[in-house]
Amino acid sequence: MQSKLEQLKSEALLALKSVKDKAQLEELENKFFGRKNGELTNIMKGLKDLADDARKVVGQVANDVKIEIENALQSKKKELSQADWQANLEKERLDTTQPVLPKNERGHFHPNTIVQNDLEELFTSMGFMTLDGSELESDYYNFSALNIPETHPARDMQDTFYVKGHGVDSNVPWVMRTQTSAMQVRAMQKYGAPVRAIVPGKCFRNEATDVRHEHTFYQLEGFVVGENITFAHLKGVLETVAKHLYGEETQVRLRPKYYPFVEPGVNGEVTCFLCKGEGCRVCKNTGWLEIFGAGMIHPNVLKEGNIDSTKNQGFAFGFGLTRLVMLKYGIEDIRHLESGDLKFLKQF
Ligand code: PHE
Repeated sequence: MQSKLEQLKSEALLALKSVKDKAQLEELENKFFGRKNGELTNIMKGLKDLADDARKVVGQVANDVKIEIENALQSKKKELSQADWQANLEKERLDTTQPVLPKNERGHFHPNTIVQNDLEELFTSMGFMTLDGSELESDYYNFSALNIPETHPARDMQDTFYVKGHGVDSNVPWVMRTQTSAMQVRAMQKYGAPVRAIVPGKCFRNEATDVRHEHTFYQLEGFVVGENITFAHLKGVLETVAKHLYGEETQVRLRPKYYPFVEPGVNGEVTCFLCKGEGCRVCKNTGWLEIFGAGMIHPNVLKEGNIDSTKNQGFAFGFGLTRLVMLKYGIEDIRHLESGDLKFLKQF
């Protein structure tokens, strides 16, 4: 028994020398001290079967061997973690010669989106839902459903991008929507009355571009249909928006204007936020800024939306969202907005 113990000891100490990592160390530890089948554990367990005298002697040797192996294991453990630590240190070493890396730049919202989000929040607080329309729209929803028949001269007011050969019936023209009003009849057909919604989004016109005209721009449409909806409600909503945008003293001026899909129709202006109505560069000395079109929804349009126009009335308005953005930030050229120019965009 004693010689077996001695053999075990030298075996253990020898094996320890070639241990290179924690896993191997654990394996070795298990081999000798494992609770179930550790070689030393087994010997310790067997001690109880020896005669008293022999147990004393062998027990003593076994204990010594155990302590010696344990100590050797401990110092190997220390040695390994020391090496680990050194390796980590090596990895984490600060390289002071490395040039400064470029900062991780965070993007931000486009000015259009900033203004759009702000208005969406305001309209949501007034119980409007926000709808997305499609940018490629049928000629029907963009024009015909809005009381602008095919031969009507009002079509000439908008320079339209027509798209050939789209859709099931390729004889029916499709257009890049020229106005978010295209969503009015779609929404009425889908939700019926009462309905209260806004439609912010991109519109397209075949413009000769200059500082004030661009082929792609944004509008924010809104409409309410229901029983007893009046022009006074329209004015109330528009005044709320104007005050939200430009402050409590802002006044709204409505003047008659023709849009085929509203009757009566108006052109909406607000007092210039810069000169407060005195007249300045921004308002071209008029004291007023034109920012929306609006009116009571024409009965023909309600009919297209399957709304009973003898029971319901509605109002609609369309803000030039791009115009609001330009006014808010003093942007002098509309073409900056879609340019993707970072020098411009980083200012917001
Ligand atoms: N769609 C009109 C335009 O683009 C604006 C408008 C919307 C006018 C709703 C009246 C009612 O000019």
